[in-house]
Amino acid sequence: MVKKDSKWRQAVIYQIYPWTFHEDTGRTPQKGIGSLKGVIEKLPYVRNELGADAVWLSPFYTSPMKDAGYDISNYRDVHEDLGDLKDFKDLVQAAHDIGLKVMVDFVPNHTSDQHEWFQKSRNKQDDYDDWYIWHPGKKDDKGNRIPPNNWPSVFSIPNRRARERGEMPNLKKGDWTPAISAWQWDDSRGEYYLRTFSKEQPDLNWSNPMVREAMKENMRFWIDIGVDGFRFDAVNWIGKNMSFEDEQINTAYNEDQFENPYDQYLKFNSCNYPELLHQYVWEICEVLRDERYEDRDLRIIMEAHLGESDLRQLNDVAPDVAAAFNFGAMKLRWGVMERKIQIDYYYQNLSDKAIGNQVNGNHDTSRLATRHGDVIARTAAVMNLFLPGMRFIYNGEELGLHDANVPYDRMRDHENGYRDGERTPIIWNDHEKNAGFSKADDDKLWLPVNRDDFGISLFRQYTDPKSSFSLYRIAIKLCRDLPAVQRGKYDPLRTDNIEVFAFERRDGDEKVVIAVNFDSHAQHSVITTDFTQGKVALSSIDVDQNLQNVNLADGLHLRPNEALVILSAE
Ligand code: GLC
Repeated sequence: MVKKDSKWRQAVIYQIYPWTFHEDTGRTPQKGIGSLKGVIEKLPYVRNELGADAVWLSPFYTSPMKDAGYDISNYRDVHEDLGDLKDFKDLVQAAHDIGLKVMVDFVPNHTSDQHEWFQKSRNKQDDYDDWYIWHPGKKDDKGNRIPPNNWPSVFSIPNRRARERGEMPNLKKGDWTPAISAWQWDDSRGEYYLRTFSKEQPDLNWSNPMVREAMKENMRFWIDIGVDGFRFDAVNWIGKNMSFEDEQINTAYNEDQFENPYDQYLKFNSCNYPELLHQYVWEICEVLRDERYEDRDLRIIMEAHLGESDLRQLNDVAPDVAAAFNFGAMKLRWGVMERKIQIDYYYQNLSDKAIGNQVNGNHDTSRLATRHGDVIARTAAVMNLFLPGMRFIYNGEELGLHDANVPYDRMRDHENGYRDGERTPIIWNDHEKNAGFSKADDDKLWLPVNRDDFGISLFRQYTDPKSSFSLYRIAIKLCRDLPAVQRGKYDPLRTDNIEVFAFERRDGDEKVVIAVNFDSHAQHSVITTDFTQGKVALSSIDVDQNLQNVNLADGLHLRPNEALVILSAE
């Protein structure tokens, strides 16, 4: 069972991307890179101004940075550009002092090729022979050595870009751009190793119990320092079919619609292999259940890219301590039908023991306001915050920041996923150098500052009661003050307008209705529930509504794409 008083139950979790969040003002010389001390300086903002309950830190570990730190070469130390272990301990202390929990990213599927384990494995040293997934490959008709199967690398987008640059002249019009193989030849060992992501990220062999034990030890290391939870990276890849069967072709793949050649294949063997995935997840979760952590309120959130029914099964593995991210809002287009079906299905199938979650964005996805535009970004924010469970906010989302156009020569991610646009620095203000992110010269910045967003800096939004920041701040406070939102379950409501989606949360006599107009025109809708007189507590458009009276039975007037939060007045 989830602890009754678990603070994770309706927590707002703020994802910090440490490389571009904030460089501490005291660091000399300034490096142009965020720092853990810089994060500490901004914790009061996250807790006291925005009102979040926890931070999730993207990787800050020692790493050669081939995949923005998701290629870890030492699981127990801090990257020197970000600070050191002492800074991390200070960060945990500072966070706890003001009531913030700390969740850290944890990467179980792969390490960096610079990790000592891989170095030893490639040389078959000690017991490390079998710590990664090695294979001699097979021979083609002409006797040439080829990879053992057709498993593709997730990072196959660079092939699309290479083709656009005219670097694949042999492909005919209409031919699919090939995916990059997930197998990498290693000269020193004379075998292929599996690397689902970049070639510098070899996959660990989770079928080896020593690997599992070592990863659990790494988790204990951070729990003992004081962290309250983990975001488990790319977890669906740890469960693979170790008989290495080929993946089947995805017949729905169409090069005009899918950006990534990785999607040419269905994924039943190279990942998402339920028997093993569930067993390993169960085992990881045991770490948190250890008696020695009885007094702690620990939690895991898993990044798993699965269909809704597989996701449901994964959520049932250890609902007391772990759940998978619910990426519905992030992956679906803005349409009332798809969103309503997904939300209904998600909550109906979530066990009572579990904690659900909502996510509108992260460091792998185009920013919310870029994906949907500024108006819908605010509507989506209200939906996210008022639905049950843990609510994730990607740093800068509260300001409505947009993707930046990062020039090719400044990109960090051009060999992987081209995700730099959503990772540029936070726009704290428009009067300090680099928007208050760092005082280093522009060419030293980890990623350039998006000048197009200077007008929506935090400084400018802070005093504007209708700003995106004010919307988040007031909505989060309202959620915290309303027991119905803290405790009530998700109840879909009937409306008489197909464009209007509504749901209710209730606790005893307290009832809260959230009504959302998905259309870009004004709409009118009757909302059916057991009360009719309500007061509008919040609008996604202009925030404060002075508790204006409404009658749900007469119908609500909703402006284009407006979300309203209505309290029962009976
Ligand atoms: C996850 C991370 C992503 C990373 C990948 C490989 O999807 O969110 O940023 O590139 O895993 O670790």
